[in-house]
Amino acid sequence: MLSPNLAMSTMAMCATLLLFLLCSPSVAILLTRLQLPSPVMGPESVAFDRNGGGPYVSVSDGRILKYVGPAEGFKEYAYTSPNRNKTICDGLTDFSELQATCGRPLGLRFNHQTGELYVADAYFGLIKIGPNGGAPTQYSQGIHPQEKENSTTFPFLDGLDIDVNTGIVYYTEASSNYRFKDIEALRGSRDMSGSLYSLDPSTNETRVLMRGLALASGVAVSRDGSFVLVSEYLANRIQRFWLKGPRANSSDLFLQLTGRPDNIWRNPRGEFLVAVNGLIGPSPPRRPAIIPGGVRVSENGLILRIMSLIQEFGSEAASEIHEHNGTIYSGSMQASYIPISTII
Ligand SMILES: *[C@@H]1O[C@H](CO)[C@@H](O)[C@H](O)[C@H]1NC(C)=O
Ligand SMILES: *[C@@H]1O[C@H](CO)[C@@H](O)[C@H](O)[C@H]1NC(C)=O
Ligand SMILES: *[C@@H]1O[C@H](CO)[C@@H](O)[C@H](O)[C@H]1NC(C)=O
Ligand SMILES: *[C@@H]1O[C@H](CO)[C@@H](O)[C@H](O)[C@H]1NC(C)=O
Ligand SMILES: *[C@@H]1O[C@H](CO)[C@@H](O)[C@H](O)[C@H]1NC(C)=O
Repeated sequence: MLSPNLAMSTMAMCATLLLFLLCSPSVAILLTRLQLPSPVMGPESVAFDRNGGGPYVSVSDGRILKYVGPAEGFKEYAYTSPNRNKTICDGLTDFSELQATCGRPLGLRFNHQTGELYVADAYFGLIKIGPNGGAPTQYSQGIHPQEKENSTTFPFLDGLDIDVNTGIVYYTEASSNYRFKDIEALRGSRDMSGSLYSLDPSTNETRVLMRGLALASGVAVSRDGSFVLVSEYLANRIQRFWLKGPRANSSDLFLQLTGRPDNIWRNPRGEFLVAVNGLIGPSPPRRPAIIPGGVRVSENGLILRIMSLIQEFGSEAASEIHEHNGTIYSGSMQASYIPISTII
């Protein structure tokens, strides 16, 4: 049975997220929570390795943790800051300047062919981790326009995905005006300085695919590699950039939402799972009430299902939704755990 509160919130979410005639969000049934080692928090992105091991999560103190089972919980797998000092960094939780030294990994995806893990870090840019974890290999920031040629900082990267057939990595720069520590200000802004890039690790050729994005957050490549999706958090929409075919190198609108889209994850059937958070109430700078949720979208942009994640995250935003072995693993920048849920 749904509690009246949950039913109300579910209806509110329905009204917030959707403009559909038929609106019946699924409520994910929370099965269990995988607790992070205290006081670490903010599992923004979720990944599984090619043997089904994990989940791996990117957390607040600059590490990537791997869940190894109920007895041991999460263990350190890798980190993104080349000179990370464990004494200073382990257990870091806030959005402080220290994260600029300790690293803040966000988007995570494995290349299942090579076993390498690619990471979009908010302070250290694009990172590759070898098949056994550990220290990072940092890609240069040579993707930047002229005005940044002398910049000593790396771009504020956010989302990442890999085309399994080509090995090409697609990733977003949330904004070139704001740093991650000012993310609340960025979320309340009208910034349009986000970008979508690609990198071919076999040649290190980088390409700028799109510029002028309104907080570029999630990214996902289609199953056949013909297009890549990018979510624009501040514009409540998902754009599609064509990689192949007659429209190659152009973009169009894939999906307009009425909530804030974050990470996108493509499932093996070719569908996209997008974390979408409804906002109700005051406009920034005051923080609006958040209704966490997500949508399952077909390859053609048809919404197949709407999910509420209120049981999982209360009034905190969801950042990613990931299916694995018939259950849903979701991430959140504010949570201290990974909820595992099923869908009715
Ligand atoms: C790490 O930080 C601690 C505390 O400031 C310091 O004592 C230690 O020397 C540092 N370790 C390295 C390897 O820099
Ligand atoms: C690409 O750049 C990375 C990071 O700098 C480096 O480790 C790798 O060898 C380079 N690969 C090629 C093909 O140049
Ligand atoms: C970058 O630094 C070089 C050498 O100091 C200088 O000549 C150049 O004008 C600088 N570029 C920009 C865009 O500031
Ligand atoms: C798309 O852009 C790439 C890189 O600039 C270029 O190699 C390719 O030929 C272009 N494709 C089309 C169809 O214009
Ligand atoms: C996959 O799900 C099944 C049934 O829910 C469960 O018995 C099994 O342990 C799960 N496997 C893994 C690797 O989590």
